Amino acid sequence: MPHITEIEDLKRIYRRRVPKMFYDYCESGSWTEQTFRDNSTDFDLLRLRQRVAVNMDDRSTSSTMIGEEVAMPVALAPVGMTGMQHADGEILAAQAAEEFGVPFTLSTMSICSIEDVAQHTKKPFWFQLYVMRDEEFLENVIERARAAGCSAMVLTLDLQVLGQRHKDIKNGLSAPPKLTPKTIANLATKWGWGMEMLQTKRRNFGNIVGHAKGVKDVSSLGSWTAEQFDPRLDWEKVRRIKEKWGGKLILKGILDPEDARRALDIGADAIIVSNHGGRQLDGALSSIRTLPEIVEAVGGQTEIHLDSGIRSGQDVLKALAMGADATHIGRAFVYGLGARGKKGVTEALGVIHKELDTTMALCGRRDVKNVDRDILLIDDAFHRYRRNI
Ligand code: GLV
Repeated sequence: MPHITEIEDLKRIYRRRVPKMFYDYCESGSWTEQTFRDNSTDFDLLRLRQRVAVNMDDRSTSSTMIGEEVAMPVALAPVGMTGMQHADGEILAAQAAEEFGVPFTLSTMSICSIEDVAQHTKKPFWFQLYVMRDEEFLENVIERARAAGCSAMVLTLDLQVLGQRHKDIKNGLSAPPKLTPKTIANLATKWGWGMEMLQTKRRNFGNIVGHAKGVKDVSSLGSWTAEQFDPRLDWEKVRRIKEKWGGKLILKGILDPEDARRALDIGADAIIVSNHGGRQLDGALSSIRTLPEIVEAVGGQTEIHLDSGIRSGQDVLKALAMGADATHIGRAFVYGLGARGKKGVTEALGVIHKELDTTMALCGRRDVKNVDRDILLIDDAFHRYRRNI
């Protein structure tokens, strides 16, 4: 077994092990993938100030997210089809997160169902909701999340229509994979993945199959979103969902200060500054570049989380320094899961934790809750894009 020292190590193993259609699904952005690339490379515009001869003893990376204690301010983001990256993927990732002491978010478009994940974990997890046209399904799924003891609802606002990812169409992405000659040729090279997948029953969209009516093709994310996601979702509906749910609400997909203010008016417990990992509006600014204006607009009034582009503990530290209260990782944990199952997710979290802790120390800080822009050196280019007003 190779020694894992960085997230890239896990990604290399993941790429070899998992069928191409699921690797591509994870690793794609929409259209030209400009935003997908910027999400990571824009972190390079932020450099760190080294400080020396500062007591580095007794460091702490622990914090809170929506009032829950966390070992570090890094939650596992909701990722559709995680159970296709590794058999029983959502259960394994949730268990790894629970043991590490960070939140796990289950996607509506997961393979393992809400009930299944609840049965195999001890602590409450978060449930991510996509708003569907079918009101009965919507009410039902909110009820199921409540019954499973989920401690927060993460309502995604930026995917009522799907940004096109070319490879998913070309690969004929589905869960389970449809056995075309091209897919069979690729699956034939993925024995480890296939043997484990044959041993589980969980190979469909577990929250959907058996719960939604009148769906033509339940295996395709593309056709599901087109047919079922409600394009009329607006702030009024968000308000109604908040009332229906009644618990902690996190609004995901905020990229604009005006939307951040709307989220605040609604009474969101947290917002996630996110462009969906560059998978939706190609051409949008990276999350990290969007963050300062949002912090200016609503900082201190609601919790601000950030996802999209985080692949290291240094990225986490930079996001916190720019004013985020916490972060979420999607691809970084999927690489670990696809590479080595639960152990890989733990390794991914371990890598990020160590990077965060050591880098914080080298910046002369001992407490992750006490990190601010003073530790940063910001390239002038970071502020280059302005609204035309
Ligand atoms: C949503 O589930 C996505 O594929 O980005």
